[in-house]
Amino acid sequence: LNGAGQANRWRSVAPEDTRRIGAALAAELLPDGVLLVEGDLGAGKTVLAQGVASGLGIAAEEVQSPTYTLVREHRGDRVRLLHLDLYRLDADDVAAAGIEETLAETGVKIVEWPDRLAAVPRGAVSLRITLLPNGERDIERLAR
Ligand SMILES: Nc1ncnc2c1ncn2[C@@H]1O[C@H](COP(=O)(O)OP(=O)(O)O)[C@@H](O)[C@H]1O
Ligand SMILES: [Mg+2]
Repeated sequence: LNGAGQANRWRSVAPEDTRRIGAALAAELLPDGVLLVEGDLGAGKTVLAQGVASGLGIAAEEVQSPTYTLVREHRGDRVRLLHLDLYRLDADDVAAAGIEETLAETGVKIVEWPDRLAAVPRGAVSLRITLLPNGERDIERLAR
């Protein structure tokens, strides 16, 4: 259901670009949406999550790499943000950790390493960030 105003592909040359792209996605994630962000380590998934946070009225600096923390919660005035990093999990861990339940909670959810999930949550917005040889990032919306 891509509205005419929804971009599907972006080129980012600096972290600020990636944050702006994230911020622009915030509106379509309200109030309870899920954003899945694929990409290698260092691609810019957490930077993009910072942009989404700022678009939700949450200080971008609050959002840090949660690699050692499965879920981090950030509270804004209007909405809360749950930021998940599944890097260290396998499918069994995901089930045991109750991740599917977390994704059904109220608020906006952002998932790094969504390939660990057994199933794509219904209605999720999916992105893939690719680090290009010249250091720029290609960010594309994936059709589900
Ligand atoms: N265009 C860009 N977009 C996002 N991050 C960038 C960009 N250019 C350089 N970087 C740097 O790349 C790193 C991305 O880190 P991070 O977002 O934590 O990656 P990931 O969460 O995908 O592992 C940061 O140090 C950031 O400053
Ligand atoms: Mg990260």
